[in-house]
Amino acid sequence: MKTRILVVDDDEGVVKSCKRALESKGFQVEGEIDAEKALEKLKVVSYDLMITELVMLKLDGVRLIRNAKIINPAIGVIVLTGYPSPEAIRETLQIGAIDFLAKPFFPEILGDVVGKALLYKKAARVYAAQEEFDIDKINAILRESRKRPERLIPVLQDIQDVTGYLPPSIQKLVSRELNVPVSKVSGVVTFYFMFTMTPKGKHRIRICTGTACHVKGAEQNYRRVKGYLGLQDNETMTEDKFFSVETVRCVGACSLAPVADFDGAIEGLVTPDAITKKIDQTRGMHKC
Ligand code: FES
Repeated sequence: MKTRILVVDDDEGVVKSCKRALESKGFQVEGEIDAEKALEKLKVVSYDLMITELVMLKLDGVRLIRNAKIINPAIGVIVLTGYPSPEAIRETLQIGAIDFLAKPFFPEILGDVVGKALLYKKAARVYAAQEEFDIDKINAILRESRKRPERLIPVLQDIQDVTGYLPPSIQKLVSRELNVPVSKVSGVVTFYFMFTMTPKGKHRIRICTGTACHVKGAEQNYRRVKGYLGLQDNETMTEDKFFSVETVRCVGACSLAPVADFDGAIEGLVTPDAITKKIDQTRGMHKC
C-alpha cells in the first residue's frame, strides 16, 4: 500500500509543489489549504505523514499537530515553515514533529526529509535487528547518567561515539534510562546537526541546504554528488560504505554559500565539479 501524506498550508502554491514533488516519488498525497478542513480529513483518513505550515489563518500549526497526534498517535509530522525560529522548532519537535524544513525548499530536499521521517517511523525494529551495538559500552554510559535528564546531550554524544549514529531504538533506550520523553530525545537528535539517525560512511559529505546555500545553488551540488556516487533517492551511503551524503540546514558560513562539509572541513563557494573532484581525490588517497 502506498504511503499516504497530507500537506497542509494556506499557500496553494506550496501545497501544489509539495504534491507534485512527492507524487513523482510514488507517494499518495492529498493537499489542504484550510487547516480546519485538514483536521476533518485526519478524522476519517489514516495518514502516515502530515506536512504542515505553522503559521496559518484558521488554525495554527501547533494546534493542528496536537490534534493530529490525539486522533492518530502514529502519524509522522514534518513542519514546513517560512518562520523557523528556534523556539517554534523546539516546541513542535517536543509535541511530536519528527523534522522541519524551512521555506523556500527544493523538491530533492523535501523528498530527503520525507524519506528520513518515514525511516524514523518504521525503522526502529529493523535497526535493532540489523545492527550489533556494543551494548556493554552503551549500558556503562547510561549507568552513570540514569534518571538524570540534564545529561541528555552528553549521553547522546557518548553513545554516538560508540554506535556511529542514533537510530530510534537507541533513542528509546536513552529516553527510558534518563527519564526523558522520547519526543524530547528525538527533538534533540534532529535539531542538532552533530547528531545523526542514519549510519555514516568512512567519509561524510554534508551539503548545506540552508536558505543562503539554497539560493546559491545547493540543489545542483546535492543532485550531482548523489548522482556521481550512484545513490538513489532513498539512499544516503554507498554500498562499500566509503561515502555517505546528507543535508544540513546551516553550518554558520552563509557568506561562503554554497557550502559543503567534507569530513568536518567546511568548504565554501563549492560547485558540482569541485565536489566530484574532491570525491576522486579522496578515493585516490586510499588507492596509494
Ligand atoms: S545557509 Fe548554508 S551556511 Fe548558512
